[in-house]
Amino acid sequence: MLSAAGDIPRQKLNFDTDWKFALGDPEGAQATDYDASAWRELDLPHDWSVEANFDADAAAGAPGGYLPSGVGWYRKAFLVPDNIAGRRVFIEFDGIYMNGEVWINGHHLGKRPYGYIGVGYDLTPHLKVGGRNVITVKVDDLKQPSARWYGGTGIYRHVWLTITQPVRVAHHGTYVRTPQVTRQSARVAIDTTVINGEEEEMLVEVDQGIYPPGSDYFVAAGSKEVSIPAGSEMTVAQFLDLKEPMLWSPESPNLYKVRTTLRVGAKVLDVYDTPLGVRTLRFDANDGFFLNGEPVILRGMCNHQDLGPLGTALWDQALERRLRMLKDMGCNALRTSHYPQSPEFMRMADEMGFLVVNETFDEWRRGWNFVDGQLVSSRNDRGKARYGYNQYFTAWSERDLTDHLKRDRNHPCVIMWSIANEVPEAQKFGEIETVKVLRDLVREIDPTRPVTAGINHIHTANETGFLEELDIVGYNGGGGSCFLYEKDHERFPNRIIYASEVPHSLQTRGEYRTHTNYREKQHEIPNLTEEEVFPETDAWYESSYDNAGVRINARDSWHLTKTLPYVLGEFRWTGFDYIGESGGWPRVLGNFGIIDLCNFPKDTYYFYQSQWTDTPMIHILPHWNWPGKEGTVIPVHAYTTGDEAELFLNGESLGVRKFGGENPYHLEWMVPYAPGELRAVARKGGDEIAETAIHTAGPPARFQLEADQVELDPRRRDLAYLTVRIEDADGNFDPKGERWVSLQVRGPARILGVHNGDPLSHHPFKSNTVRTFNGLARVIVASTPGDDVVQPNEKRESGEIIVRASVRGWESRELRLKRVHQGKPESVFKPDNSGPRATDVYDEGVPPVD
Ligand code: GAL
Repeated sequence: MLSAAGDIPRQKLNFDTDWKFALGDPEGAQATDYDASAWRELDLPHDWSVEANFDADAAAGAPGGYLPSGVGWYRKAFLVPDNIAGRRVFIEFDGIYMNGEVWINGHHLGKRPYGYIGVGYDLTPHLKVGGRNVITVKVDDLKQPSARWYGGTGIYRHVWLTITQPVRVAHHGTYVRTPQVTRQSARVAIDTTVINGEEEEMLVEVDQGIYPPGSDYFVAAGSKEVSIPAGSEMTVAQFLDLKEPMLWSPESPNLYKVRTTLRVGAKVLDVYDTPLGVRTLRFDANDGFFLNGEPVILRGMCNHQDLGPLGTALWDQALERRLRMLKDMGCNALRTSHYPQSPEFMRMADEMGFLVVNETFDEWRRGWNFVDGQLVSSRNDRGKARYGYNQYFTAWSERDLTDHLKRDRNHPCVIMWSIANEVPEAQKFGEIETVKVLRDLVREIDPTRPVTAGINHIHTANETGFLEELDIVGYNGGGGSCFLYEKDHERFPNRIIYASEVPHSLQTRGEYRTHTNYREKQHEIPNLTEEEVFPETDAWYESSYDNAGVRINARDSWHLTKTLPYVLGEFRWTGFDYIGESGGWPRVLGNFGIIDLCNFPKDTYYFYQSQWTDTPMIHILPHWNWPGKEGTVIPVHAYTTGDEAELFLNGESLGVRKFGGENPYHLEWMVPYAPGELRAVARKGGDEIAETAIHTAGPPARFQLEADQVELDPRRRDLAYLTVRIEDADGNFDPKGERWVSLQVRGPARILGVHNGDPLSHHPFKSNTVRTFNGLARVIVASTPGDDVVQPNEKRESGEIIVRASVRGWESRELRLKRVHQGKPESVFKPDNSGPRATDVYDEGVPPVD
């Protein structure tokens, strides 16, 4: 049991473990003595929608990825030790999707509709110190669709208990910024809101110390004494000077820490840390964006928050893997389209170095034809979500925005606040009062960053007066806005602009078409051949030649962004495929990602890497398995950081291509197809810098199983991402390989999710079978805590995890992982799950017949 004894100033404790869960809406479940013995036991974060089967009739439809939602309850019983007496106990949910309603010991604490913002409650007045306490949470996501994308359902982010003294720093109670920065010094302004929860006036010493990255020694410090009346709060302003500050940037994300210590005499009452990154931002209508005085192009991605096969349930390491992939690609910016992402996302953006456009809302009052939840037009087929945020905006928007700003304003990664994505009332109907209210709220709570919004149909918005109210105008591609940069720059020379959502381009991993599927009249994405070379490609799949751009493709968009100095940068839609917004059954995913749903990069990933990094690399496409197309001329494209490349087919040179002229962003050869080896060599200044080769595979004959991590600690919630890869008898990758794989896990681990990136796959994410798609499949494994009993005749050591994968007719593969600790994530107080225990219901899956 963790000590919560009298003198400890502040503890923030993870409260994720040992919950119970029931799907449905059992009556009276908030009562302390409710019999929940039959409920399922689980640890949070949890998304129940992702555990279910896809269903063409699911109420969430194409927006929600055809997964069910509904109502569910969570419950946790825990013992509170006596030594907590006199302290304050707060619970905080980082995100409940949606309509999270919370009770402690049967007492109703509150309800929060918005599923993307944290909510906290003071448990102190209702806690039974020295006794058993019960928290219950009702989640209501019954009315569908509640968003235009997959929201997941449940307590899907972390839960925390914070225990403080009555004299404490308020929740999100510091505001740290650097009003003056030079090479020699940075002025650090710190506002601290201190609460005196004692029944007498207190003389409180507020100490501040600034600690450099990774150091235990402060390099600047200051102190102020304030007298705070009983039961009130006070905001204390202090300034410190930091000598020769290490600046924060995506390349060098130097993070200082401001440590606030509250003392009364010698007694320390609170210790509260705030991240600090010293950097300057400048946005210029002619010259673009400057970070620390240097010009920087925003090389950005929009992403939804789901983690593919894990749904929205936050596994920190899954998020970290995704951000790492973007970082390796040279991405330096993220837009939190279209809602507050998790606190972990913000922490990682600070630590890994991403510039964040932090967006709060996708809907205001008007979900196009729904205003405040009421239908205002007979055309109810268009627009945002019927049961989306438009129902709650009037009552909740100022509170939600305030909480978002206070939660995130200390993160150096945040460079702009986006108050909207494509809101029709302002951009089409010119209702600018709301813009002013939200913008002024931002300016009041954080005047250090500009206010923006993502806007489509800019030509309409240009006439409504809306855009003049923003500090920076975000151009979303819709309605052809991405073709207006030059015209608008001339017409509105003081307007600061960036591509908040451009390009929208689709691609399915390993699928190709030489004819353009999407064509916008303002812009041509030319066909690559006269006749379609790959007419067999399924109509639901998108071509990976960067020729399925909704309006503009990735290369042309980047060209505009790179060459127009006043465009601050671009945020493509999207980095990763996401569940939902599928365009209709049988497709269940949004296929805009340049990385598929289970983290396999698609070809366009390498386009960005070639433009955004100096990593020596070359990537060629398409794959080279085209039986029956012998002699057909196939366009071969290369993305490389070299200045030229040479292509060889079966050892014979097909010539050198150099960048410039018509193809500044990719190199191209027209190659009559013959099976064998296609090899490309990249050169820079005449020196070879990278080489790649792909081979025509013979008949599929075997598979490989690999893990990206072998040691798993359940306390850290470590994950292993396994790759299943189909090969021919010689080990050549089969880019069309499709096989069912059965999985068996022995030892202390479980499969968290499987997928293959196929937007048409309806196989459940929770399964012990997976089918490869275009040669690959993914299996995500986590270790489980607790006793690991090894059977006497088992060929396995304690802690050893054996994943066995079998494909009918082929030799099976075994992978050995190791659990390195038995414990659970840190737990606070003893869970009280006395009484009968329900087991974790887990889909064992039934291997389908190949
Ligand atoms: C945009 C919108 C995104 C997504 C995208 C799909 O208009 O902001 O959320 O829906 O279109 O093309």
